[in-house]
Amino acid sequence: MLQTKHLSKDFIQGDSTIHALIDFSFDFPKGITAIMGPSGSGKTTLLNLLAGFDQPSQGEVHLAGKRIDNLSEDARSDIRLHHSGFIFQNWSLLPTLNAIENVAFPMLLAGASKEKRLAKAETLLESFGLKHRAKHKASQLSGGEQQRIAIARALILEPQVLFADEPTGNLDSVSGEIVLELLRQHTQDERRLVLVTHDAEVAKMSDRILYFRDGKFEKIEELK
Ligand SMILES: Nc1ncnc2c1ncn2[C@@H]1O[C@H](COP(=O)(O)OP(=O)(O)O)[C@@H](O)[C@H]1O
Ligand SMILES: [Mg+2]
Repeated sequence: MLQTKHLSKDFIQGDSTIHALIDFSFDFPKGITAIMGPSGSGKTTLLNLLAGFDQPSQGEVHLAGKRIDNLSEDARSDIRLHHSGFIFQNWSLLPTLNAIENVAFPMLLAGASKEKRLAKAETLLESFGLKHRAKHKASQLSGGEQQRIAIARALILEPQVLFADEPTGNLDSVSGEIVLELLRQHTQDERRLVLVTHDAEVAKMSDRILYFRDGKFEKIEELK
């Protein structure tokens, strides 16, 4: 479902090469895997490679039964749309769309009818306690509400693999726990969530923690 083999990423800057990720091989089990490590340890680099936003310098990424690292940008974005969901650090809602339109947006890209899109988005908004906000523009919502909208949007196509980069980063601890609880509810069965976080409380709610330092995978802590 989600696996890396000898995955490495270098960035060239001027005369120097930054080894952002070094020889990482891992088969992600189902459930929630938290990624922790100091700033600059390669967490975002790893997530971008797993999700197919970026291509490795060496090694392989396998997602939903396909090797994706050597595919074209178009093929990778197609796999992203149909097999994975991504929750960004800054949430990246479309500010001029209202809440329900933001949630439904991936279904628009996938070619679903308006009726189906709105019905599904409304169900999700309701389960996230945001039905009363459906017609509000994204820019008019609170930080916690915007974050729940971003999660609902990432879940609407029912992806088997979900990626989140510091999804609770700008929230207070209570909102952070609510967000993790929502993510937990949507990570049942065979689903996988890979969660980058610097928050030890949030990481404790996951099934395992992978620790990185200077681009290297240091150790795994099993929690469940
Ligand atoms: N696009 C880029 N160009 C050059 N260097 C980068 C780029 N992205 C990340 N890096 C470098 O790679 C290393 C890992 O960065 P990153 O994955 O963002 O770390 P983290 O998310 O753990 O804070 C850092 O040294 C960072 O400066
Ligand atoms: Mg980062």
